[in-house]
Amino acid sequence: MIKSLTLFVRTVRTPNVALVQTRLASQVLPQLSATKYNVKRKEFGSVQADDVNFFKSVLSEEQVLTEESDVLPFNIDWIKNCRGQSKVVLKPKSTKQVSEILAYCNKRQLAVCPQGGNTGLVGGSVPVFDEIVLSLSLMNKIISLDEISGALVCEAGCILETLDNYVKEQNLIMPLDLGAKGSCHIGGNVSTNAGGLRLLRYGNLHGSLMGVEAVKADGTVVDCIRTLKKDNTGYHLKHLFIGSEGTLGIVTKVAVHCPVLPKAVTLGFFGVKDFDSVLKLYKSAKASLGEILSAFEMADNDSISSTVQNLKLPNPIADFPFYVLVETHGSDETHDAEKLSRFLEREMSSGLIIDGTVTSEPAKMQTIWNLRESIAGAGLLDGYVYKYDVSIPAARYYDLVPVLRQRMAGKAVKVYGYGHVGDGNIHINVTVPEYSKEATDMLEPFIFEEVSKLKGSISAEHGVGFRKPHFIHYSKDEGAISLMRELKQLMDPNGILNPYKVLPDP
Ligand code: FAD
Ligand code: MLT
Ligand code: ZN
Repeated sequence: MIKSLTLFVRTVRTPNVALVQTRLASQVLPQLSATKYNVKRKEFGSVQADDVNFFKSVLSEEQVLTEESDVLPFNIDWIKNCRGQSKVVLKPKSTKQVSEILAYCNKRQLAVCPQGGNTGLVGGSVPVFDEIVLSLSLMNKIISLDEISGALVCEAGCILETLDNYVKEQNLIMPLDLGAKGSCHIGGNVSTNAGGLRLLRYGNLHGSLMGVEAVKADGTVVDCIRTLKKDNTGYHLKHLFIGSEGTLGIVTKVAVHCPVLPKAVTLGFFGVKDFDSVLKLYKSAKASLGEILSAFEMADNDSISSTVQNLKLPNPIADFPFYVLVETHGSDETHDAEKLSRFLEREMSSGLIIDGTVTSEPAKMQTIWNLRESIAGAGLLDGYVYKYDVSIPAARYYDLVPVLRQRMAGKAVKVYGYGHVGDGNIHINVTVPEYSKEATDMLEPFIFEEVSKLKGSISAEHGVGFRKPHFIHYSKDEGAISLMRELKQLMDPNGILNPYKVLPDP
């Protein structure tokens, strides 16, 4: 039943429940990445007592972790797929300290794995062997906020949600929002070019990032922190650090453009009969809602029912083959409500929307968003989850889900698809009782071949990390890969920054 439309200003969502739940769900240590994926250690130095003494001379005692139990969480990724063997975690508090550490590591040929909030989903944030973990978590100062231009300058280790709460006091919002916002760092977001739930409206970080400060492998500080919208002085260096997943430099500060906090926010959660209707509804939402459309997400029945069952979450509407979540961010309640009502009336009578709920009440919106965001971790409760994060042209967006269901019949617990329809980005999760080489080989490279045939991208937002370098050729041609290698050679000639990640072995 469509509920009546009442508009309130939306509050910030609380930290994602699933993030906490899934962390508790599995206490079992994953197999070492090196063994699981048969990787050979590269010829880096290994950390000696003298090295630790040097680090303690640059940092204070508590900024250098060497106790096994302290280091362990930094060795394991969020989905508990990868486990590294690092013996040392360094927690610098300033760019100068990052610079001194890197200059030293570069001379000693000690490999370094940069880590933000460790919410990455492709194994990029944890070491593979004994790389030193460089955690940015203590670099969490907010430096300035220009209320007029919306330019926020802060250190890389600031948590996204903390920033969102901070800028909200000045009637601004962060231009990105993701389920991991309670843990991920803005430096991690920049390094992965994170997309998320608001990309449809506010664009990606290549547009929102005004400036960046980064430290190169040899310790050189590259200060491109500017709060200008326009700056055409030479090469646009900041873009090199956006999405390079810690392989070209350590991001230490960022300047981000924050849009104005919308005065009116409304959320619709609808049941739809098939994927074709999802696409038709998207076309109609763009035409009817225009500039106020801020999110258009979809989830199939298995995504929602698994999340409801595994995490015991409420579903505010009944069971449907597909679900669509439509959000508006606007500045005029009456105007926005009229637009949304017209859209709803038309699409309920056309049959595209079978049933659903519309709300502007913060608590109700929170329940709906929490259900959508919790899909990410719900599959872990089935045992293990293979996560694919691909871009596919709209018309073929959902094609691979039924194909994989058939292929994995009898092997998978569930195969489901959900994601950012408006960005052409579908997340396909395949849950299995436990990780196995057999299941992995049935899925990979098959899925990447299929994506490539559809002219899609094998990673729409999570990146290449440790899990996909040997598949990158499905999305990048030889010329592009060789230019990537040249850039890596130029910026990090000893290859100490996040080895085994992004670039395939030659
Ligand atoms: P980490 O996981 O710590 O690191 C990610 C990569 O960046 C690693 O390669 C690491 O080496 C590098 N890195 C981190 N910090 C720095 C730095 N300061 N300098 C250089 N390199 C660095 N992603 C999306 O794009 N959209 C989503 O909607 C989304 N939703 C998610 C929901 C959940 C529940 C979870 C668990 C993850 C989600 N992600 C999503 C993935 C992840 O949250 C993002 O990739 C996020 O940007 C990672 O930030 P982080 O601080 O946790 O980085
Ligand atoms: C999402 O959109 O929920 C995230 O990218 C995380 C995931 O893929 O599960
Ligand atoms: Zn996503």
